[in-house]
Amino acid sequence: MDDYERLVKIGEGASGVVYKARDRRTGETVAIKRLRAGGGNGEDGAAFEAAFRREVRCLEACRGHPSLVALRAAHLEVDPYGGSGEAFIVMDYAGQSLADVMREDRAGQPFPETEARRVIRALLEGAAALHARGVLHRDLKPANVLLDARGGARICDFGLSRPTTAHSGTTSSSPLKPGVATLWYRAPELILGSRDYDAGVDTWALGCVMAELLAGAPLFPGRSEMDQLNRVFDTLGAQDVASWRGFASLPRAGSPLCRRPRPPARLRGMFPALSDAGFRVLAGLLECRPDRRLTAADALRCPWFHAEDPIAAPPEAVAAAAAADQPRASSCSAGFSAGAGGVTVPGVAAEAMVA
Ligand SMILES: Nc1ncnc2c1ncn2[C@@H]1O[C@H](COP(=O)(O)OP(=O)(O)OP(=O)(O)O)[C@@H](O)[C@H]1O
Ligand SMILES: [Mg+2]
Repeated sequence: MDDYERLVKIGEGASGVVYKARDRRTGETVAIKRLRAGGGNGEDGAAFEAAFRREVRCLEACRGHPSLVALRAAHLEVDPYGGSGEAFIVMDYAGQSLADVMREDRAGQPFPETEARRVIRALLEGAAALHARGVLHRDLKPANVLLDARGGARICDFGLSRPTTAHSGTTSSSPLKPGVATLWYRAPELILGSRDYDAGVDTWALGCVMAELLAGAPLFPGRSEMDQLNRVFDTLGAQDVASWRGFASLPRAGSPLCRRPRPPARLRGMFPALSDAGFRVLAGLLECRPDRRLTAADALRCPWFHAEDPIAAPPEAVAAAAAADQPRASSCSAGFSAGAGGVTVPGVAAEAMVA
């Protein structure tokens, strides 16, 4: 690590500290994430090493995509007996986090729809690439999105990421843990205890991020898992969530929260200025039933990202929809040819990253 001159601390999370640094050999600015064994997460040396290797493998698998933070190097020093150790992940420096930009630069001001669309398009492209490579991110949120000086958006923090059997075609992965993703961005099936979820947990989180960009504040700032679910169902309705095929086997399917009568969905009324095309994306991502939720690739095929000027919705249509919430679209792919989303993926074999 002598090749790097540490400049300033730029982040500190549950798993470690992130520094801005200078590569002495090239003069380039980089970001270095330092992880410590036992640093608040109670891991022993072996678990720490496994977690580090998984984060690096997920980063490696996604190398080369413009919407995913670029890995430069990784370094591990661990004592497997003493439980102590340190690891370093060196990445391109990719700008300020979206959370910081929203809080400091914009002081809670919403993003105009065109800017929100640019950010969400980049994040969906990154998520589509991740999912195509068999990686679930599992912690998408504004603090794990970076905005560079040219307005580009990148996904970072692969600390909770993991490969999945469903996408990688292998059988070696262990069961999925439900307790992932930061509460405000946690999909309903995770709160209900699912261990067999899929990439929909990431697209749900991106729906929450999209709403936050457009509103300037978090959509579902729950205080506990049950409060979170209550907020979600009160906003989106829960009428048909129980008719999802996988619902009955969820550990918390019997929760009274799933049976309580709810007011009609009110999401449209919360975003009266959003175009109809934008709302179709938002509502498709924020679909409580995972089988109806938009995938990242499908979301990218929606007219919001393609039509000439879909943002200029007729004011009467917006007002009418705000008054009586419109039924939500589960797919935007109708009428679009395959591949219209223009998703690019790096050429790394998914098998290479499965433990
Ligand atoms: N490549 C990067 N370029 C610029 N800033 C970065 C980079 N990687 C991380 N950061 C900053 O450091 C912060 C923490 O990084 P990261 O999310 O990877 O760590 P963490 O310990 O897992 O955090 P948390 O537990 O809070 O999610 C990010 O929110 C971001 O502000
Ligand atoms: Mg983070």
